[in-house]
Amino acid sequence: MNLILLGAPGAGKGTQAELLIEQLGIPSISTGNMLREAVANGTETGLKAKYYMENGLLVPDDVIMGIVAERVAQPDCQNGFILDGVPRTLAQADALEAAGVRIDHVVSIEIDDEVIEGRMTGRRVCSKCGASYHIVANPTKVEGKCDLCGSDVTTRKDDAPETVRKRLVEYHAKTEVLKEFYAKRDKLRLVEGNQPIKAITAEILNKIGARV
Ligand code: AP5
Repeated sequence: MNLILLGAPGAGKGTQAELLIEQLGIPSISTGNMLREAVANGTETGLKAKYYMENGLLVPDDVIMGIVAERVAQPDCQNGFILDGVPRTLAQADALEAAGVRIDHVVSIEIDDEVIEGRMTGRRVCSKCGASYHIVANPTKVEGKCDLCGSDVTTRKDDAPETVRKRLVEYHAKTEVLKEFYAKRDKLRLVEGNQPIKAITAEILNKIGARV
């Protein structure tokens, strides 16, 4: 099963991806996490991406498609994968299609912009594996430590309210149009994002017809 998770910044894509990995037994490919790692390691990709990420802008398509093409070709993606945060532009969706990457379902987590800011200020992310938490809605079991790998959790630089607003502008201008793109291909599944985390997972599994 090859799945895309679409949605505004803070819609819950990363949170759902972690839960779907367990349910579906396939890996998640988060371009956001890959880019943050590249920035932290000072790689060539990281150097290209840093300015855009810090300013709430989308990273250029050619940078993204290079890292995604490499990742989906890895052996662990043979039985399927979850794309979290990619594609984000029509050019990226076209490039995936042109590369012959089959997509079964595109799940769009629907949420109003007004809900996003509260989520972002309470978000904590693992400094090592990128797992996402919320101080109220989804706290870590041990304060300040990631449930998955035990590393410190921290806040994300681009979760500052003014940067979140810029990311929302980018989403509406460049990413939202992908809903129409995939609806035309009969792949789009809309899921209500303003409900408890586990209820969203159940709705996603139902809409993609997964038997777990
Ligand atoms: P990326 O890391 O992909 O950020 P994003 O899409 O803006 O999404 P987020 O990670 O902020 O949110 P999310 O939807 O995963 O929500 P989460 O589950 O964490 O990208 C960062 C940057 O990298 C971009 O701005 C861009 O510069 C660059 N980039 C990445 N991919 C790119 C691409 N393809 N093209 C170009 N540039 C790219 O949840 C948010 C919070 O809410 C958490 O605290 C969580 O615990 C909480 N929460 C989740 N669900 C619920 C719920 N149901 N109820 C209450 N709280 C909840």
